[in-house]
Amino acid sequence: MRVDVKADGRRVVQAEAIYLPGEIALAKGESLTTPWLYASYSDTGLNGMSHHFHGHVRAAILPSEFAAKPRPIHLNTWEGIYFDHDPEYIMAMATQSAEMGVERFIIDDGWFRGRNGDKAGLGDWFLDESKYPNGLTQVVEHVNTLGMEFGLWFEPEMINKDSDLYRTHPDWLLAVDGYDQPTGRNQFVINLQNDDAFNFLFERLDHFLSAYNIAYIKWDMNREIVQPGHEGKAAGQKQTERYYALVDKVRAAHPNVEIESCAAGGGRIDFEVLKRTHRFWTSDNNDALERQRIQRGMSYFFPPEVMGSHIGASHCHSTRRRHSIEFRGLTALFGHMGIELDPVKETQEEKEGFEHYIKLHKALRPLLHSGKTWRLQTDDDAHQIQAVISQDKSEAAVLIAQLAMPTNALSGHLRIPGLDADATYKIDVVDKPSNFNDIVNCQPLWTEEGCELSGEWCEKVGLTMPILDAETALLIQLKRVS
Ligand code: GLA
Repeated sequence: MRVDVKADGRRVVQAEAIYLPGEIALAKGESLTTPWLYASYSDTGLNGMSHHFHGHVRAAILPSEFAAKPRPIHLNTWEGIYFDHDPEYIMAMATQSAEMGVERFIIDDGWFRGRNGDKAGLGDWFLDESKYPNGLTQVVEHVNTLGMEFGLWFEPEMINKDSDLYRTHPDWLLAVDGYDQPTGRNQFVINLQNDDAFNFLFERLDHFLSAYNIAYIKWDMNREIVQPGHEGKAAGQKQTERYYALVDKVRAAHPNVEIESCAAGGGRIDFEVLKRTHRFWTSDNNDALERQRIQRGMSYFFPPEVMGSHIGASHCHSTRRRHSIEFRGLTALFGHMGIELDPVKETQEEKEGFEHYIKLHKALRPLLHSGKTWRLQTDDDAHQIQAVISQDKSEAAVLIAQLAMPTNALSGHLRIPGLDADATYKIDVVDKPSNFNDIVNCQPLWTEEGCELSGEWCEKVGLTMPILDAETALLIQLKRVS
């Protein structure tokens, strides 16, 4: 994509689909349909643009069957146990998850044959009976009995050379003859234009979705596609089309199953994939500070409900940074929330924290997942502020994240656009850092007692910003009172 200003002032936008050399050759009379290009014009800045995209995603992109269903809170096992699967232990994790208010329990990578690390097993989509000697049913039933949905991880398009599938079908690789395919995370890609490979993958997914009460698939794709070839021809576009066909076939056979699009985190996030999936795993970088920026980037095009955002362990696995439960909880709050850790190993205090933010998310979920998202202007770059305002403007939630130490001695103002100018709102702090009152001698009075202001005042004058420590956050709620 290219966006530019010409010398005479006209704006130019140029966009194209990138095909590989020789991939597409049109014979006389043939035509080509490119992928969709989505564009929006806004005369109200980038917030206006995001409102168009979010509205379009909600009305025309997302599969509509699940629109009315509140998005269940997840517990995903990956960062809790990685490849170390013991069904008894996993059931204990599920029990504790349900106690905290989790609504969907997902077993991530590591459950299938030969998968004890990331060097082997991809392609062998059969339950590892050495890890699950009594089968998977007892785990699924345990999860269901606790009132939770059950989800399972797959990475269907991928194959490790150390797998029975590769040993039997080395020709199923997406590759170019004579070119030595490089690995990515020790794995290779399966050629989905090969009908036998395609049918095998469908059969395996269909088997699991038919044999167990699975409500959700985490569909991963953990490497780039390099030099894709089929019958001597470049095959990037066709591979993608066949991937859509595989997802479509799975959905047609199992219409009640929801699918997450994951690709080492955020590698496959776009509107075409979202027509057939329900949410994205935003990033494998689950550090709350980094997530503030990552989630902000995503907010330009995608509404919060499709953005998987999980509370991770206090000691972040990807950056080794530590964050309080308040900062992690509030950062995960404005998306499709989940927990990404082993609850069995957590302290009582942490568990109470998870429970608290799960409750808060459940209370705010109807607003967050239907309202309008605003990225607010700040007087200081060290603040990042977002608001979600209900479509009827009767309520709003505002999150102030303090990313770094304040730049200025004066804290500036919190101005909230998008409210009903003539209405009066009651404004209250809902959640704050535990040391909030020790940071300075006196925080703005409204943070203690709440206050009532008109929508116009909120937008034009605003509230005095509180003082926060770096890497903490504050949640505010507004309710129309007249
Ligand atoms: C990717 C995903 C993770 C996890 C692992 C499993 O990295 O983004 O969430 O599922 O794969 O291997």
